[in-house]
Amino acid sequence: MARSTAMKAAGLILALLIFTFFSLAASSSNNQIQILNAERRIDLSSHIVKVFLTLKVENVGTSPASEIFLAFPPSQADQLALVKAQAAIGKKKKKSYVHLDVNPTQLPDAPNGTKYFSISLLNPLSSGETATLEVLYILTHSLEPFPTEISQLESQLVYFRDSALILSPYHIKQQTTFIKTPSTKVESFTRVEPTKFAGRELKYGPYEDRPPYSFSPVIVHLENNSPFAVVEELLREVEISHWGNLQITEHYKLVHAGARHKGVFSRVDYQSRASVKGASSFKHLLASLPPRVHSVYYRDEIGNISSSHLRTDYRKSELEIEPRYPLFGGWKATFVIGYGLPLEDFLFESPDGKRYLNFSFGCPLAQTVVNKLTIKVVLPEGSKDPSAAVPYPVEQHLETKYSYLDVVGRTVLVLEKKNVVPEHITPFQVYYTFKPIFMLAEPLMLASVYFLFFMACVAYLQIDISIRK
Ligand SMILES: *[C@@H]1O[C@H](CO)[C@@H](O)[C@H](O)[C@H]1NC(C)=O
Ligand SMILES: *[C@@H]1O[C@H](CO)[C@@H](O)[C@H](O)[C@H]1NC(C)=O
Ligand SMILES: *[C@@H]1O[C@H](CO)[C@@H](O)[C@H](O)[C@H]1NC(C)=O
Repeated sequence: MARSTAMKAAGLILALLIFTFFSLAASSSNNQIQILNAERRIDLSSHIVKVFLTLKVENVGTSPASEIFLAFPPSQADQLALVKAQAAIGKKKKKSYVHLDVNPTQLPDAPNGTKYFSISLLNPLSSGETATLEVLYILTHSLEPFPTEISQLESQLVYFRDSALILSPYHIKQQTTFIKTPSTKVESFTRVEPTKFAGRELKYGPYEDRPPYSFSPVIVHLENNSPFAVVEELLREVEISHWGNLQITEHYKLVHAGARHKGVFSRVDYQSRASVKGASSFKHLLASLPPRVHSVYYRDEIGNISSSHLRTDYRKSELEIEPRYPLFGGWKATFVIGYGLPLEDFLFESPDGKRYLNFSFGCPLAQTVVNKLTIKVVLPEGSKDPSAAVPYPVEQHLETKYSYLDVVGRTVLVLEKKNVVPEHITPFQVYYTFKPIFMLAEPLMLASVYFLFFMACVAYLQIDISIRK
């Protein structure tokens, strides 16, 4: 009895010790890490801003560190579509990369509403050790057109706002930022010496020894005529039929999110004079679809459009579509793309006997941002226990859909995600169980309908004959 109490007490003390150790480690983790060198490359060549950050971090504390924090100003945090990290392993020639988990997190006493992401290291960084991390983050809706309205003749100019110094909870010994612009035309930029602009590259730094949370706002005013193609809403319906087909229907609400178009649009001018084409307008859209696609159609609210071209090879299919009019800033186009795919390319059986769909997440249109993406996977009638495996956080719920000949309706797994960029295009899976007997439901129903019809005919003929007699 006494022995077990002693053991309990010892256990409690041990737990307390461990707890104190970890809370100390957590609270001191910020001054435990320093960044020896940081290089940031911001790519402004399209309307989707990509930032590549290379950090060489060192543990200058006494205890091992298992996570590294990234900091973002609140305005930028709202525009973040994706944050990815990897660690470089090995030296120069034999360098390889391993993926690291990145998750949004919170730290106490965050200055000015700073938002954080935590990168989990594979192995804790022990005291005195260094590691090199490569981070990619993507910002959407972060280029602000100015002037906000332009005519068909004008080029599109935008503002990009950031800080010349990398926002970080750590001391940064040395850092440099490179901003790649889409053209050599840069109207103005904030100088934070040393600052240099040459070719299509604006260089901020190197800056030495900046304390945690150093910040120095800059504004770059530059030309960017890349197509600002934003899908406000995309609904992709993926319908599985165990009779061998996967039917995809995609509803797009597309908008040109660049500077608004001012004045009248003349189609004659647009077609005949190259100078009035509208540098930032766009006419064609490219959808990349799986190989072996068939029965492709493309229609808008008026009807079927024939101006689409399909190119296929064994790896992929490319569908080029052309809305009825070129899109200028603020203009919208609503359309539907539909296609069929062979089921055997996408439906498999998992080792535990479940069936699963392996399909691609994201938007098939090249270089587009999707503000709200909804994927509805319509399972065959009689499917049970659906579950999805998506590599990103998505909202999920179930619906029921009835189509003709359905008795109990089809289970629909609905996935929703906001702010989707091309980097989100990766396979996702939907698992479900299915009893093959259900496959007989439809043919049986059809057969019985035919049978009833036949009986009715016979009955009718009988009557007919009897009347004629
Ligand atoms: C936080 O806000 C204060 C006061 O508004 C300002 O002086 C400081 O530069 C800001 N710091 C950052 C990191 O934005
Ligand atoms: C559109 O045209 C394609 C073939 O050109 C056809 O298969 C499809 O049924 C048509 N769709 C509509 C809604 O008219
Ligand atoms: C899904 O398909 C991709 C190729 O499109 C493949 O690399 C991946 O392994 C598949 N995943 C599963 C779970 O079958």
